[in-house]
Amino acid sequence: MTRVMVTGSAGFIGYHLSRLLLDEGMTVLGVDGMTDYYDVCLKHKRHQMLLQSPGFSAEEVMIEDGAALDAVADGFAPEIIIHLAAQAGVRYSLENPRLYVETNVVGTFNVMEVARRHAVRHLLMASTSSVYGANGDMPYGETHKADTPMTIYAATKKAGEAMGHSYAHLWDLPTTMFRFFTVYGPWGRPDMALFKFVAAMLEGRAVDIYNHGEMFRDFTYVDDLVRAIRLLIDAVPVRPESTDEIAAGDSLSPVAPYRIVNIGNSNSVRLLDFVEAIEAELGVSAKRNLMPMQKGDVPATWADASLLQSLTGYRPQTDIRDGIAAFVRWYRAYYGV
Ligand SMILES: NC(=O)c1ccc[n+]([C@@H]2O[C@H](COP(=O)([O-])OP(=O)(O)OC[C@H]3O[C@@H](n4cnc5c(N)ncnc54)[C@H](O)[C@@H]3O)[C@@H](O)[C@H]2O)c1
Repeated sequence: MTRVMVTGSAGFIGYHLSRLLLDEGMTVLGVDGMTDYYDVCLKHKRHQMLLQSPGFSAEEVMIEDGAALDAVADGFAPEIIIHLAAQAGVRYSLENPRLYVETNVVGTFNVMEVARRHAVRHLLMASTSSVYGANGDMPYGETHKADTPMTIYAATKKAGEAMGHSYAHLWDLPTTMFRFFTVYGPWGRPDMALFKFVAAMLEGRAVDIYNHGEMFRDFTYVDDLVRAIRLLIDAVPVRPESTDEIAAGDSLSPVAPYRIVNIGNSNSVRLLDFVEAIEAELGVSAKRNLMPMQKGDVPATWADASLLQSLTGYRPQTDIRDGIAAFVRWYRAYYGV
C-alpha cells in the first residue's frame, strides 16, 4: 500500500484529497498545524472524519519546525509527499506578511528536505493562479511568464516553485507544482467568496462585491481538483535528455524532473453572474455592496487546462451551478440553517 504524506490534511483541499486517497486504499499520514486563521472546529471535524479510516493517521506539527516535521516523517517513511499546508488567504497576506514567509517559504523548504532525505517517488506541491499576477495574457498557460506577483502570498508561492525547481534539479527529485484556480465546494474555507456570500445572504447581510462586480474567476470544484491531483501522482516528471523531448505547451524543465500544471475549469465566471447563481440556489436576493478593486487583487483568472488534459486525459468540468448547489446543501446541513 502506497504511503502518502499529505501536509495541510485538515484543510479544505487536504481533507478531500486524503479522503480520495484512503478510498483508493492508500495509507495517509496527515500533517497539519491546525492554525487558527479560520474556525479550527472545521479542521478538527475534517480530521475526525478521516480518522474513521484505519489507513489514516494524523500529526499536529507546524512545518516551520523542521526537527518536529522530520521526526513524524521519519516514523512514516513516505513514498509520495503532497504538500498543501500553507498560509493561504490572498487578502490576509497584506496584514500579516511575515506569517506567509515563515509557512510558505521556510515550511516548504522543510518539506522539500524531507522529500530529499526519503528520496520520494514524487513530490507534489500546491502553488496558485495568483503567481500569474499582472500577466494579462489569458487563458493562463504554464509556459507564460509569471514574474509579476501582486501580493506577498503570490510571491511566497512563486518562491516555492523556484525552490522546488532547484531541488528537482540538484537531487533528481521528481516534482510537480500545481497552480490551483479558486477552489470551492463542501467543507470549504470560511474566508473565501462562496462561503462568505452564502453566510451573508442567509443572515440578510450585504455582500461586498469588489470592482463593482467586474471581476472574473475560474472556479474549480473540489472533487474535480482532487481527482486531477490523484491522476497527476502517476504522471511523474522525467528529466529530459534534450529539449527536443519537450512537447509544445509542456512546462517540463529542460534540466530537472520538474513540471508546473494548472488545475482549473477553463471557464472564467463573472462575479455578478456568480452572485446571481447563489441567489437562485438560495432563493434570496442579495443586498449588494459595490466596492472598488482591492489592493493586490487581480481582475480576472482563467486557466488553460490543456497540459493537465494531455498528462492525465482529464479536465475539471463541474458546472458552477451544480457546485454551488452542493456547497449550499453542505452549508445548510452543517450549520442547521
Ligand atoms: N482554495 C483555493 O482556492 C486555493 C487556490 C490556490 C492555491 N491554493 C493552495 O492550496 C493549498 C491548500 O489550500 P486550502 O484551500 O485547502 O487551505 P486551508 O487553509 O483550508 O488548508 C491549509 C491547511 O494548512 C494548515 N497550515 C497552515 N499553516 C501551517 C503550518 N505552518 N504548519 C502546518 N500546517 C499549516 C492549516 O491548518 C490548514 O488546515 C494551499 O497551499 C493554498 O495556497 C488554494
